[in-house]
Amino acid sequence: YDSVERVLDAFRAGEPVLIHDFDDREGEVDLVYPAGAVTPADVARMRNDAGGLVCVALPDDVAETLSLPFMDDVLNHPAASSHDLGYDSRSSFSFTVNHRDSFTGITDRDRAMTISRLAPVAESTRLGDYDADDFGTEFRAPGHVHLLRGAPNLLDDRQGHTELGLALADEADVPPAVVVCEMLDDESGAALPKATARDYATRHDLAFVDGERLVDALR
Ligand code: 5RP
Ligand code: ZN
Ligand code: CA
Ligand code: ZN
Repeated sequence: YDSVERVLDAFRAGEPVLIHDFDDREGEVDLVYPAGAVTPADVARMRNDAGGLVCVALPDDVAETLSLPFMDDVLNHPAASSHDLGYDSRSSFSFTVNHRDSFTGITDRDRAMTISRLAPVAESTRLGDYDADDFGTEFRAPGHVHLLRGAPNLLDDRQGHTELGLALADEADVPPAVVVCEMLDDESGAALPKATARDYATRHDLAFVDGERLVDALR
């Protein structure tokens, strides 16, 4: 696999990287971008080449300041009553948003706007210059981009793509907002096999890394 240095360089350059979590967790490869760099063409790549759900992960401290809850904490519904995921103790889902300048919110242009704006938002929030009211002025919910909230101590607490991506952003010194999208197999509909994802990375000159290596380097 590629070195963590290559992955960090790619991230600093605004290029996507492929992250496989763990064989004994989801066993999925996500296409992951620093949110600030995302263009409409990148959204097209996520829906065409990856095919999963397009989500933006924000760190716990930023989510807290912006009042972005875990969805399962705020849904008062029987469907949100027990956490029986097969691969982790809880999901990282918060709610969905659209940038208020978007129209329907789903087009490549609209989603790229929503996603890319979340990077300066995360940065300003950390600096104390942006709060929940500012967020509400700029974004509306529900929308077409899923927000994910990272665990407070990142990789010490949870080792999902959410935390792997956010830990990478911190180490690369880019704003703490990362887009993740699962790679699916068009033939079978299942998660794209790791080896096939690796081939995709090679073909497109993208860095590929797995969770174990990231945890060793960044935890
Ligand atoms: C949202 C997901 C993905 O698996 C994504 O990678 C984030 O989740 P996790 O942190 O659990 O890996 O379910 O599409
Ligand atoms: Zn998942
Ligand atoms: Ca496809
Ligand atoms: Zn995942």
